[in-house]
Amino acid sequence: MTEIFPVELQSKIERLGVLAVLVIDDEKHAVPLAEALLQGGIDCIELTLRTDAALEAVKLMKTHFEELTIGCGTVLNARQVDQSLEAGADFAVSPGFNPKTLLHAREVGLPFAPGVATASEIEHAVELGCRLLKFFPSETNGGLAHLKVLSAPFRHLGVKFVPLGGINLGNLGNYLEERDLIAAVGGSWIAPRDLVVAEDWSSIERLAREATQSVGR
Ligand code: 3PG
Repeated sequence: MTEIFPVELQSKIERLGVLAVLVIDDEKHAVPLAEALLQGGIDCIELTLRTDAALEAVKLMKTHFEELTIGCGTVLNARQVDQSLEAGADFAVSPGFNPKTLLHAREVGLPFAPGVATASEIEHAVELGCRLLKFFPSETNGGLAHLKVLSAPFRHLGVKFVPLGGINLGNLGNYLEERDLIAAVGGSWIAPRDLVVAEDWSSIERLAREATQSVGR
């Protein structure tokens, strides 16, 4: 069976363990934003397909910074899988679990980590070959404590999670103490949309540095 998420790519994401979730309203922000994140030590992002500028932003970032690992986020259908691949994304994630989207990603060869929040969704995703899953939204679903209980029947299969939703500098350390369960955490606090709109690259660089320092990098 084709690997849904290559081990080497997962290792790259796990190395730092923190990814920035981005919403980009204007493609002109793509390059300076990526630069600020890289200066702050963040080399892995989820760029959400929630704006018209998103796909062009992926292309621009990929052209300028090949060291940046880019996942498209909010990938809700097969068409967005194709668009992500065409834009040069390294992988894609979805907020929820949609087997149609997942199977299309596998067919075209785009590494994919679907969002899950229940045992049924994890069971289905695992059956289809997934071993890396996005746990979303994490904090309002009980956070790490809940995920530890929820994941217990699947841990022997080597399943790992990227919890997103409600993660910040104050709670990321708890998650990352469980590195055999948590591949990485992420969130929008590193590059909040309003700071991007305000082109406040120095604040974003500082937030990125705080995040990387807090995980000892
Ligand atoms: C996502 O798409 O993963 C979430 O919007 C991230 O959640 P956060 O805004 O609470 O960090």
